[in-house]
Amino acid sequence: MASSSDNPARPAAGQRLCGLDELSDPGSKGFRFRLDSRLFAGFLVRKGGLVTGYVDSCPHAGWPLGVFDDRYLTKAGDHILCAGHGGLFTLEGAGATTPCIGLSLTPWPVAVRDGAVFTA
Ligand code: FES
Repeated sequence: MASSSDNPARPAAGQRLCGLDELSDPGSKGFRFRLDSRLFAGFLVRKGGLVTGYVDSCPHAGWPLGVFDDRYLTKAGDHILCAGHGGLFTLEGAGATTPCIGLSLTPWPVAVRDGAVFTA
């Protein structure tokens, strides 16, 4: 599967993703990395000083969560929305509504340092 941890397109630790000021608060941003025919997709969620990364693959059916590049949150900014079937997740990645209750987003470890977000 394109988003698995052995995906060669997945960036190594230490890759700069964006400046912290490029993320709204609350806000989200998507990233795509390609290597040959492989694709790794991930996204960041910011709330306050906390930035969390997730693999962009819904645990319900494996579809990407967003339809628009940087829009992964509900309008209120309090949940992650999967456009596939409308599943909601908490900002901590836990399924909050059907069809995703009991399912979780796959973490994509990231770290904030010197005002920027990096893969970890
Ligand atoms: S693919 Fe995400 S809710 Fe179905």
